[in-house]
Amino acid sequence: MALLIKLFLTVFILASATVIVTVTADDYVRPQPRKALHLPWDSKLSSYPQQVHISLSGDKHIRVSWITDDKSAPSVVEYGTSPGKYDSFAQGETTSYSYVLYSSGKIHHVLIGPLEHNSVYFYRCGRQGPEFQLKTPPAQLPITFAVAGDLGQTGWTKSTLSHIDRCNYDVHLLPGDLAYADYIQHRWDTFGRLVQPLASSRPWMVTQGNHEVESIPLLKDGFVSYNSRWKMPFEESGSSSNLYYSFEVAGVHVIMLGSYADYDEYSEQYSWLKEDLLKVDRKKTPWLVVLFHVPWYNSNTAHQGEGDDMMKAMEPLLYAASVDLVFAGHVHAYERSRRVYNRRVDPCGAVHITIGDGGNKEGLAAKYINPQPKWSEFREASFGHGELKIVNSTHAFWSWHRNDDDEPVKSDDIWITSLVSSGCISRKRNELADTLTTP
Ligand SMILES: [Fe+2]
Ligand SMILES: [Fe+2]
Repeated sequence: MALLIKLFLTVFILASATVIVTVTADDYVRPQPRKALHLPWDSKLSSYPQQVHISLSGDKHIRVSWITDDKSAPSVVEYGTSPGKYDSFAQGETTSYSYVLYSSGKIHHVLIGPLEHNSVYFYRCGRQGPEFQLKTPPAQLPITFAVAGDLGQTGWTKSTLSHIDRCNYDVHLLPGDLAYADYIQHRWDTFGRLVQPLASSRPWMVTQGNHEVESIPLLKDGFVSYNSRWKMPFEESGSSSNLYYSFEVAGVHVIMLGSYADYDEYSEQYSWLKEDLLKVDRKKTPWLVVLFHVPWYNSNTAHQGEGDDMMKAMEPLLYAASVDLVFAGHVHAYERSRRVYNRRVDPCGAVHITIGDGGNKEGLAAKYINPQPKWSEFREASFGHGELKIVNSTHAFWSWHRNDDDEPVKSDDIWITSLVSSGCISRKRNELADTLTTP
């Protein structure tokens, strides 16, 4: 009898599931997850720089980060505008960490600058190894961002990275879940080597996902590896934590929030966000963009409702400040909303884009809730990447490209007009002052 009841319940649950859940239907046959890449490390000198990546750090400065096995290797970057001619150099800081039986190499962070905008620089790390080349972002619009989250290090990651490499972009934005090291620390090293060709040539601005936490109760705090390796300009933006910060580039103010840092109204992150939003000058930076890991607007069955608490706490702040665009990851699929606020279509709300489809080992999240909510305009479960070209103070072109048999195929695109040009900001000026200045 018990078996019969169990069988009945199973059939009932399956039947219910088929009522509310369907797989998006179109002609495209979605690929399976691909295996993790095997990334061998051919032995080089222990002072040889590896895992080189760069990030923006205040006006006209770039942070160069790399790792050496040799703990006495110098933290020096030589750089210049011609190959092999380094007329400037800078010294920096180092850190390292241990994690159970693993000891990291020496992690170097060196600030270089002031640098000219929109210029190519050649540089070398630690006075040896290969020469790298970077391009600084432009001083003014237009600017192009590449966007892809939940990268991991599989065959699909490789495909996504090669497509990003082909697009002419200035800065990479990554809304969390980088290496999928998941406590196995050497996977952070293989990820660093995998992304080095791209991350050493354009600034990579990242925020944390759940795969970066790696805490062990009573033994290890969270984010030890992430914070050591992927240092972002939090101090430069008045934040006390690498888990949330902001930066300005061309005419865009970008805020990186932490889905895994406290976000309630009594938290440091909440106070910092209020202060940061009050500092935004839309005459100088007409576009306001926010990234975090766990989406607030998600009609995929994966991770349903996980962003609700953060949304409840922080969405009124973003709305009052007239945020144009919000990018999230976490759900391994793509979804773009209409302008939305408080779960209703609202011309003064933000466009929310979930882009957790970089190509990690966990595969795609292919099931959606039906009917599609009114705020959801486009959704598709494929691996891919996005390109955001902000053309001027009023117009931006967004496109999303799926990895279709290893070819980037544009699947979604839209022109987005800024809230600066919509009249929303002047209508909300009083609301902004009230919401943001209320203690
Ligand atoms: Fe995630
Ligand atoms: Fe993920």
